[in-house]
Amino acid sequence: MSADAIEGSLLDPQTAACPWAYYAQMRAKAPVYRMPETGFYLVSTYDDLKEVLSDPGTYSNDIMIEQLAGEAVAHLGRQYDEKLASLGWGHVQTLQRTDPPVHSRYRRLINRALTPPMVKSMIPGVERITDELIDSFISRGSCDFVAEFAFPLPGKVIAEQIGLDETQINTFKTWADAMLAPAQGLLTDEASVAHYAGLEAEAQHYLAGVLEERRANPTGDMLSALVAAPEEGDEPLSMHELQNLMNQLITGGYTTTADAIGNAMLLLVEHPDQMELLRRDRSLLHNFADEVMRYASSVQGLFRRTTRSVVLGGVEIPEDSILHIRYGSANLDESVFPQADTFDIRRNNASKHLGFSRGPHFCVGQPLAIQEMMIAFDRLLDRLDDIAIAPGATIERAPGFFLYSLVSLPLTFTTS
Ligand code: HEM
Repeated sequence: MSADAIEGSLLDPQTAACPWAYYAQMRAKAPVYRMPETGFYLVSTYDDLKEVLSDPGTYSNDIMIEQLAGEAVAHLGRQYDEKLASLGWGHVQTLQRTDPPVHSRYRRLINRALTPPMVKSMIPGVERITDELIDSFISRGSCDFVAEFAFPLPGKVIAEQIGLDETQINTFKTWADAMLAPAQGLLTDEASVAHYAGLEAEAQHYLAGVLEERRANPTGDMLSALVAAPEEGDEPLSMHELQNLMNQLITGGYTTTADAIGNAMLLLVEHPDQMELLRRDRSLLHNFADEVMRYASSVQGLFRRTTRSVVLGGVEIPEDSILHIRYGSANLDESVFPQADTFDIRRNNASKHLGFSRGPHFCVGQPLAIQEMMIAFDRLLDRLDDIAIAPGATIERAPGFFLYSLVSLPLTFTTS
């Protein structure tokens, strides 16, 4: 079949809110498909994604905003950078925006901040925050799971890592929202540029203080590891680079994890048999987290740029083209995941999903995100029974091209 026969568009909010049928159509008819609306090449099968992710020399992460957005948006993006540079530290390309070998140095240095022992040391804090959040709504027998649990949990975990206390969680949220604003299309005019850049600069000055404090007096936490002297041969990170890495840690670790927790709860209430299975057998928690990431990936897709002309999936792609690699579709590819449309927490290859990517840019926060999901659902299932969607509630997804987010998830429950 030909690409001409592709019906619908991922830019249509309804398709993006429930993209399974669209993905199936793409994989069957045009696995590498040039979106007429954007000129991006959508990549949708597991094997093609694997090929792209394992060849950073051909498929680069170094992409200019002009290549992703129209001139008006790019102009506002440049204004934002100038404003940020005048108030704090402008954005420099580090880590996720770079390719090996430049990327390799950033990766070595950031890996030290999220080692398995580091993540293990965060477990008591994650458990405490999880219980405090459940305490805050349990007596009501109802909650908005997204606003009262899914977002505050990863938010508080990161906020504590950057030295904020409980009373400053709203400050953290304001800063994180500002850092996310450019990617979420919230820069609409000069006033919004000034507003969000001002807030990000405020966060930068706060972070600069904490980073310098940790450099002088290391505490063994994530930030201390980030500013620790590098191995011989690696240049230490400048404050400019550290600010950009902090931006990526905060934006990469907050809404993504919140969305994963929200999607996980929705999947459980929609599949009561799976919820019961998990309630009875907590050894399935890790596989459950992976199956959620496979079935409803929080990051549905990201971008790459071709550094040369190349043939992918039988399609000729010119040099300097933008690829939109759709993790969410690869994770539903029947050739790897039989009965891919079934949410099955006992699936024996769920961990092969690409929801955290693969290759050099594999998510550095994956162990933390999985740990947070496992602790969250262990405690939620211990403390809440009969979890269900609140009567009359409608489930709404946030509009968006590459994130898969719930706006709210009103629940009712009983307690034993
Ligand atoms: C369920 C939650 C999460 C999801 C779905 C997710 C998803 C992803 C994906 C798909 C990438 C790959 C980007 C690429 O291929 O170019 C990535 C990279 C990254 N993630 Fe995550 N992430 C999550 C949680 C976290 C957390 C908790 C942190 C930090 C605390 C984090 C920090 C990062 C960073 C810094 C990168 C860039 C790594 C690099 O380029 O080498 N992520 N993440």
